[in-house]
Amino acid sequence: MIENSSAVTPSASAGTPGHATTPSASAAVPPGSAAASPAADAGQPPNLGAGLTFHGPLSEDRAARLIGRLAAAGPGTVLDVGCGWGELLLRVLDAVPGAKGTGIDINAADLELGRRLAAERGLADRVEYVEESALGTTRGPADLVLCLGSGQALCPTGPESPYDPAVVLRELRRLVRPGGRVVLGEGFWQHTPTDAELARMWPGAHAGDHPTLDALVDLAVEAGFRPAWIETASAEEWEEFESGYRHATEVWLAAHPDHPLAAETRARVDRQRTQWLGYRSVLGIAYLTLVPVG
Ligand SMILES: C[S@@+](CC[C@H](N)C(=O)[O-])C[C@H]1O[C@@H](n2cnc3c(N)ncnc32)[C@H](O)[C@@H]1O
Repeated sequence: MIENSSAVTPSASAGTPGHATTPSASAAVPPGSAAASPAADAGQPPNLGAGLTFHGPLSEDRAARLIGRLAAAGPGTVLDVGCGWGELLLRVLDAVPGAKGTGIDINAADLELGRRLAAERGLADRVEYVEESALGTTRGPADLVLCLGSGQALCPTGPESPYDPAVVLRELRRLVRPGGRVVLGEGFWQHTPTDAELARMWPGAHAGDHPTLDALVDLAVEAGFRPAWIETASAEEWEEFESGYRHATEVWLAAHPDHPLAAETRARVDRQRTQWLGYRSVLGIAYLTLVPVG
């Protein structure tokens, strides 16, 4: 996943470089959809990611196609691990009357935003947002399991145990019911990065941080899935997401160059943008729709 950038940074934690986890975590106002305010409050720099709809490079068109396929399978239960504010979870529930959902995350602010969005859409009685770690979760199995840019929620990591998508896939296989579906949004290298490319990414970026797409799909098959749909975020989806992640903050910085918080905000944004420009065109995100075998 990505370190601090926006949605999927791998090494950092596992999903999207740079943004996936960190941004909202540090944000006073969680990013996400229309409900999120672009600025924490007057005079404060806007949170990175404020105003995003999805916490990753996912277009409205791709989301609609995904939801159409998932809804056709008629899930009764949906489990979203590392849900954030759970925009896709809510849209699936909206598309499948009667389906019930559970979102698990450790970010209280994102969960609160999810609850607010659920209430606004009349879904509050069909979805539960739970603040807890998904590591080794005893929730599930579910008919549909979502894990978008949040593989780190299923894979213990430490100095001796680097992030491993194979572990994530085995966990997802455990959490899905027979005949169900899994959607995994996971990072992959579009080409094996050179040392010079790695040096421009997140601190400690390593060629072993991600598999290639074919290796990732092989891992899914080894974990007991058939890859029913394989798709990858486009350059446009990445740019919408990455630029959208910083947009409000960049505009604020231009207007408030001497604000007491400007220097630290500028340093954070500059670091994150530089990292993105380093992994842009090298790191991809795959959306795999997986069906358990047997
Ligand atoms: C890139 S965000 C993706 C959020 C959401 N899946 C989406 O696509 O909008 C990664 C999420 O994983 C969550 N996360 C990280 N470690 C976790 C853990 N151990 N248990 C549950 N959630 C975790 C973060 O808090 C963050 O919300």
